[in-house]
Amino acid sequence: MRKIIVGLGSSGYGIYIGPGVLASAGERLREKGFSGRLVIITDPLVKELYGEALCRGLAGYGFDTDILLVERGEEHKSLETAGRLYHELTALRAERTTPVLALGGGVIGDLAGFVAATYLRGLPLVQVPTTLLAQVDSSIGGKVAVDHGRMKNMIGAFYQPAAVFADIDALKTLPPAELSNGLAEVIKSAAIRDAGLFAFLEENMERARALDVEVLEEIVYRTAGIKAGVVEKDERDSGLRGILNYGHTIGHALESASHFGLRHGSAVAIGMVAAARLSHRMGALDVSSVSRLKRLIERAGLPVALPDVPVPQLMEGMSHDKKVQQRKTRFVLLQEIGRAFISDEVPPALVEQVLAER
Ligand SMILES: NC(=O)c1ccc[n+]([C@@H]2O[C@H](COP(=O)([O-])OP(=O)(O)OC[C@H]3O[C@@H](n4cnc5c(N)ncnc54)[C@H](O)[C@@H]3O)[C@@H](O)[C@H]2O)c1
Ligand SMILES: [Zn+2]
Repeated sequence: MRKIIVGLGSSGYGIYIGPGVLASAGERLREKGFSGRLVIITDPLVKELYGEALCRGLAGYGFDTDILLVERGEEHKSLETAGRLYHELTALRAERTTPVLALGGGVIGDLAGFVAATYLRGLPLVQVPTTLLAQVDSSIGGKVAVDHGRMKNMIGAFYQPAAVFADIDALKTLPPAELSNGLAEVIKSAAIRDAGLFAFLEENMERARALDVEVLEEIVYRTAGIKAGVVEKDERDSGLRGILNYGHTIGHALESASHFGLRHGSAVAIGMVAAARLSHRMGALDVSSVSRLKRLIERAGLPVALPDVPVPQLMEGMSHDKKVQQRKTRFVLLQEIGRAFISDEVPPALVEQVLAER
C-alpha cells in the first residue's frame, strides 16, 4: 500500500492506494478515532461488486454500517437526490460524528460529498473511489457538488475528506470505456506537470489497458500525487489549480455542443490535442511534442479529432466557460511535455483557425 499525505492546514488527510485497501479501511478509520456507526452511499452495481468486502472489513473493526443507494447516472447527481438522502439520514438518526463513505465513481463522490458537507453542517466524509477517474481526480481536492438544471456542478462546496481509499483491485471490473475516460485525466496530469509519468505511460499504456495491477498502482499513485500537490498550493482554485483545466476549455464546449453525448474523457482528449496545437501556434510548444501527445491519447483508446461541430458554436460554448476572464477566454497551454502555463492572450482568430483545421 502507498500513502500520500495531503497537507491542508488543520484538514490534512491521507490517500491510501493499492490492491486490497478496501479491506483495511476499518483499521485506518479506527486509527483516525472513528468508531460505531457509519453510512455508505453507493450505487446498486458498485454495492454488488464491492459493498460486501467493504462492510466485512469495517465489521472486523467494530463498525456498524448502513447502506443508502443512489441509481447510476449523472442525472441523479441532483438536489432532489440529496433531499432524499437527507431524509434517509434523518431516519437513520445520523449524528454530527457519523462518517459518510462515498463508495463509487465521481458521481457518487460528488453527491455523497455534497450531502456530507451540508447535513448537520457537515459529517465526516470518507472517499472510496472505484473508477480510475475518481481515484486520480474527483476524490481528491475537496470539490463536492450537485448539478442544477443543465448546469453541471452548479451547487457545491469545498469540503475535504477525512481519508481517501483507492483500491486498485476495484479497477479490474471497469469497462474499457471507463478506463479510457480516466486515462484522459491521467495523460492531462502528466502533460502539465510530470514528463516522467508521461514517459512511463508511453512505455506501459498496453499494460495499463490490460489492467495490470502494478502499472495501475503506479499511475494512480503518481497522478493522485500531482492533483494533491496542486490542490495543496491552491485549495480554493484561485490560481495554480487552473492548470488542471488543460484540455477542458475546448473540451467543455464540445461536451455541451454534444448535449453531453460525448463522454468527458473523450471531450478532454480532443481538447488536449487542440490545445497542444494552439500552444504550438502560439510559439510555445514544438511540433514533435504535439505528435507525442496525440499518439499517447490514441493509444489510450481516446479520440483526437474534432467532431463535426460548427466553429462558431464551439467559440460560443467557450465564452460561457467558467474560466472566461473579462470576455477573453483563458487557455492552459503547454510549454513542453510536463510544463503548462495559463494564458489570457490567445487571439480568438487563432483559436478559430485551430478549430477549423479538423
Ligand atoms: N469533484 C471533482 O473535483 C471532480 C473532478 C472530475 C470529475 N468530477 C465528477 O465526476 C463525475 C464522473 O465520474 P466517473 O467518471 O467516475 O463516472 P461515474 O461516477 O458515473 O461512474 C461511471 C460508472 O461506472 C460504474 N462503476 C463505478 N465503479 C466501478 C467499478 N469498479 N467497476 C465497474 N463499474 C464501476 C458506476 O456504477 C457508474 O455507472 C462527474 O459527475 C464529474 O462532474 C468531479
Ligand atoms: Zn476533467
